Amino acid sequence: MKVKEDTLDLFYGMEFQHVPPFRTQLLKWIGNKQRFAHKIASYFPKDIRTYREPFLGSGAVLAALQPPNAVGSDIFGPLMEIWRCLHESSEKLTDWYRTRYVEFITVGKTEGYERIRARYNANPNGPDLLFICRSCYGGVVRFRKSDGYISTPCGIHDPINPKSFAQRVQIWRRRTGGANFRQMDFEEAMSLAHEKDLVYCDPPYVCSQTILYQGQGFSLERLMQAIADCKKRGVRVALSIDGKKKSGRVDCELEIPDGLFEREVFLDCGRSMLRRFQREGESLEDEIVHDRLLLTY
Ligand SMILES: C[S@@+](CC[C@H](N)C(=O)[O-])C[C@H]1O[C@@H](n2cnc3c(N)ncnc32)[C@H](O)[C@@H]1O
Repeated sequence: MKVKEDTLDLFYGMEFQHVPPFRTQLLKWIGNKQRFAHKIASYFPKDIRTYREPFLGSGAVLAALQPPNAVGSDIFGPLMEIWRCLHESSEKLTDWYRTRYVEFITVGKTEGYERIRARYNANPNGPDLLFICRSCYGGVVRFRKSDGYISTPCGIHDPINPKSFAQRVQIWRRRTGGANFRQMDFEEAMSLAHEKDLVYCDPPYVCSQTILYQGQGFSLERLMQAIADCKKRGVRVALSIDGKKKSGRVDCELEIPDGLFEREVFLDCGRSMLRRFQREGESLEDEIVHDRLLLTY
């Protein structure tokens, strides 16, 4: 069954969330859902026991939803170091950002950035990743597949100042207060879900993004199996997956097992961030992307 956006009344028999927009980013992350996280969350049922987000990235949907009980996880260690620090000590997180911001300004923008990036590449860690994601070109941290090396150059924009960053830390700490953060593979994260939980999956984009994250063993077949196992246990799953590009050259049709999902929603999410990065300076009028949301309920 296909439904259009904003027709939640068609989903009679189930109560949905009404989630207001929240667009303040803490981290910049490729493929982040910040701009329309509230639209996605508005398709979640109201009676969620524990909210689980196993491909957390920058946590846009988690922060828009503000669930009282949640587990946010991702396989990427340095990223999870940042999330854990947000709860353990917001002062420490702010300090991570401030010291690198001062280094960046003092040493000189490009050299400062390259020094921080070299340090990260020699020893991948949360504090350096935090500053790199806020200051790199286009906010698109790219990892070399073989070893996770970051090659993204310095951005042309000025990264936010430590005071603004500190304010965001407080907002995000509040909004994610109900969450536990853990580093794990999605399969393990989903195996922990119980009846009445809601799992929101935003895996690496199959068409365009598998190359952009570190070699993390993502496979669509493995994900479909994990979703099927969840559904059997009464766990509801919402899956964001490549939508159809109106005039795209890449065909994003995917193998979706019959009967696994009950509903499908297309959300208009404007332009694709990845395309914008690759085609800097070109007109992108033809690059409208639809985010596709599949629901097992
Ligand atoms: C498209 S991003 C998620 C973006 C997120 N929704 C946001 O708003 O920022 C996909 C995430 O999946 C993570 N990932 C990749 N393979 C994974 C795996 N096998 N298990 C768990 N997480 C994985 C990546 O590290 C990345 O952060």
